Amino acid sequence: MFAGMDHVGVAVKNLDEAISVYRDVLGFKPLGVHVLTERKVRVAFLSTGGETQIELLEPLGSDSPVAKFLESRGEGIHHFAVEVDDIEAVLAELKRKGVVLVDDKPREGAEGKKIAFVHPKSTHGVLLELMEKP
Ligand code: CO
Repeated sequence: MFAGMDHVGVAVKNLDEAISVYRDVLGFKPLGVHVLTERKVRVAFLSTGGETQIELLEPLGSDSPVAKFLESRGEGIHHFAVEVDDIEAVLAELKRKGVVLVDDKPREGAEGKKIAFVHPKSTHGVLLELMEKP
């Protein structure tokens, strides 16, 4: 069902400042910045040298879900993303088991990936992103 941890998402107030810290101070290599209009976030991926990347997320506007997260919980780990081979099949299986899903159907993520989120209610408090690569 699962094919490895793809990335860990970190909510930040200012993406450019956070990229500077992660690149210049911590030493992670930036891979690219994407604007995800539909999800109201601007994100940057950084390499950890292995399969698992870091995704920094900055809200675009006060109605962004990431803005709401920052308001209630502050900066920090926002979600983790696990790669799956067949996202539709995984969603159907989780739904059948009564898992609370944010997305019933996958939507388009960065770089043509299919993504869907599982609600923190069903994961002991952490937003879980399922991701299928094209
Ligand atoms: Co993510």
